[in-house]
Amino acid sequence: MNLARFPRRRYTAGPTPLEPLPRFSQALGGPNVYIKRDDLLGLTGGGNKTRKLEFLVADALAHGADTLITCGGMQSNHCRLTLAAAVKEGLSCWLVLSEPTPGAYRPDAGGNIFLFHLLGAERIKIVPDGVDWPSELETVAAEATAAGRKPYIIPMGGSNAVGALGYVACAAEIMGQCFEQGLSLDRIVLAGGSAGTLAGTLLGLQSHHFDVPVTAISVVNSNEELLENAVKIAAASAAHLGVDVEIGPDAVACFDEYVGPGYGLPTPEMVAAVKLLARTEGILLDPTYTGKAMAGLIDLARRGVIGTDENVLFLHTGGAPSLYASTRLFAEP
Ligand SMILES: Cc1ncc(COP(=O)(O)O)c(C=O)c1O
Repeated sequence: MNLARFPRRRYTAGPTPLEPLPRFSQALGGPNVYIKRDDLLGLTGGGNKTRKLEFLVADALAHGADTLITCGGMQSNHCRLTLAAAVKEGLSCWLVLSEPTPGAYRPDAGGNIFLFHLLGAERIKIVPDGVDWPSELETVAAEATAAGRKPYIIPMGGSNAVGALGYVACAAEIMGQCFEQGLSLDRIVLAGGSAGTLAGTLLGLQSHHFDVPVTAISVVNSNEELLENAVKIAAASAAHLGVDVEIGPDAVACFDEYVGPGYGLPTPEMVAAVKLLARTEGILLDPTYTGKAMAGLIDLARRGVIGTDENVLFLHTGGAPSLYASTRLFAEP
């Protein structure tokens, strides 16, 4: 496998820290939790999309694009980071955002919506939840072409064969850091949304014969859907990479019971998890992805699914800017 043959822009100076969380682990009574600080990746506010965008934006530039087009929910971290990458590269960025109910998107809202405006998104189109994303993105790209632009479509979450390479690279980074630190991991826990992070991580681990089980906490889909999406993206990415690696359904344990009432809707366990990490380690999670993933880790530890003596790596995929749109959730002491 030779990742270096793919065009890549660099948005982070070096590896993100991989460090222990001693006070958090003590508060749980075990396991030994470590964290991979991908919330500290480059571009505005950091987070997992930065790794995917290194490959996606390089591909867009190689295709001569001048306008990035992507989509997400109203408080999309992926849209924030795609826009930030566009700003850095001198490209335009058009965003398509979905709102759960008509009028729910308010341009004066906080969090990522504030940042869409501050970073100067050239165009923001609001559509209802449940829209057919691929055809919506094609429609917007056709409008861009008609306006004389050279658009490049980045799918939801940057989750395709190219974007997943970011997490193939991350798996190699984790392997190197564990070796340096003499750390033998028993498990990696991460949040699963559009599944590109999961797919790339699984592909990277398996390609390097780095034998660490992955636990994915779904924040939106059923276990079956998350797994199916991850397997599909991993297969496409393996073909793109030219590696003969097949990710089977046994490669990952998925848990969908921490989604709660729905994507982006809070749960008391998410609020408790965000507060616990903030108050033991001074690290911010987010309400939609990492807060729910950490709620899953905590519950699985309490139920004994994760053993008290395990070394568990929590992949912090970012998202904290959206906390500032949900401050009321955390108002109680
Ligand atoms: C903070 C954060 N964590 C995790 C995810 C999930 O990553 P993926 O969509 O690759 O499954 C996202 C996706 O938007 C995210 O913004």
